[in-house]
Amino acid sequence: MRIGVLTSGGDSPGMNAAIRSIVKVGVGRGHEVLGVQNGWAGVLAAEARPLTLADVDGISRMGGTVLGSARSKIFPTVEGQRQARERVKQLGLDGLVVIGGNGSLTGAHELGRSDAPCKIVGLAASIDNDVGHSGLAIGVDTAVNTIVEACDRISDTAAAHRRVFIVEVMGRNCGYLAMRSGVAAEADAILYAEKQIGEDELVEKLRTLISSSFAAARHKKRVLIVKAEGVKVKTAALVERLGKHLETEVPGVDVRETILGHVVRGGSPTATDRVIAQRLGFSAVAALEEGAHDLMLSWEPPGGFGEKTADPSVRRVGLQDMIDETKRVLDGTSAVTQARLKLLAQVEGLLAL
Ligand code: F6P
Repeated sequence: MRIGVLTSGGDSPGMNAAIRSIVKVGVGRGHEVLGVQNGWAGVLAAEARPLTLADVDGISRMGGTVLGSARSKIFPTVEGQRQARERVKQLGLDGLVVIGGNGSLTGAHELGRSDAPCKIVGLAASIDNDVGHSGLAIGVDTAVNTIVEACDRISDTAAAHRRVFIVEVMGRNCGYLAMRSGVAAEADAILYAEKQIGEDELVEKLRTLISSSFAAARHKKRVLIVKAEGVKVKTAALVERLGKHLETEVPGVDVRETILGHVVRGGSPTATDRVIAQRLGFSAVAALEEGAHDLMLSWEPPGGFGEKTADPSVRRVGLQDMIDETKRVLDGTSAVTQARLKLLAQVEGLLAL
């Protein structure tokens, strides 16, 4: 087979390990592997070249993606899809592995659902962990560890000055990164959009939390609030409003903000991300060899959803099923989101103790 591989959307640590695995397994089994540059934009421009074992040697430890990534505006259009089908045929691909988040995998489904130019399989890769029926997408573990490390550093200096820090983390509309890293970093509060709460109520809650945290008897040295970027209230607005209250309520205590932004997306992938990426890559080649199409290889999907594979941690999930579940994850109706909210509600009152 001639197998194409591309990375699309926001890059995530571990994408390179997945590319390496696809090349190692693909070439090792006698296939030709073509690396498509810059995601769907590269498909439209037919920018692809054969990848050798030497090309992928040592790339597993690198963050970002050696193939480049992009968010193409043309690809999702009818004309973009028509052009993409043509280019895939020109490239002579028998199979295409798409490594990306829910937007990129939705694009893969659109391209492959009628008049498919080749077999298409996806690998969930997004730091946001918002891909439906995926337990842990490629990049999430690294992002969580990066956030925790940053929060630990901030905690050192915050404690030295008895300060409040609001640390904003990526995740788009999904609070998973904030929830998981907040618990690990001993945050006093975790703010996420899935818990819909108005600005005034939020300020009141934080004000009470901060005042009680700095009560003399508590001997508390810092307050750490981890906030998901999806929360509507701007971090700067929170800092300003809380700062005004604290001037009189706990004089001498400052509120500061740190927006981690793209720091969260970069860096060398953790061993967990490398292993997940490699095993998903291996399973992708195996799936294409079996003629599989229009599906995603998923790492430990909640509830064991999907079709079993030779790898006990990897399941095959239809791309349409992924799209439907992603909507539920984001609008809060998924059992996964409900379970996350329930768990956080149980510990919420305990965080600031
Ligand atoms: O989807 C990954 C992600 O990093 C989100 O967490 C974030 O909201 C978005 O991408 C940022 O995208 P860009 O780098 O295109 O601004």
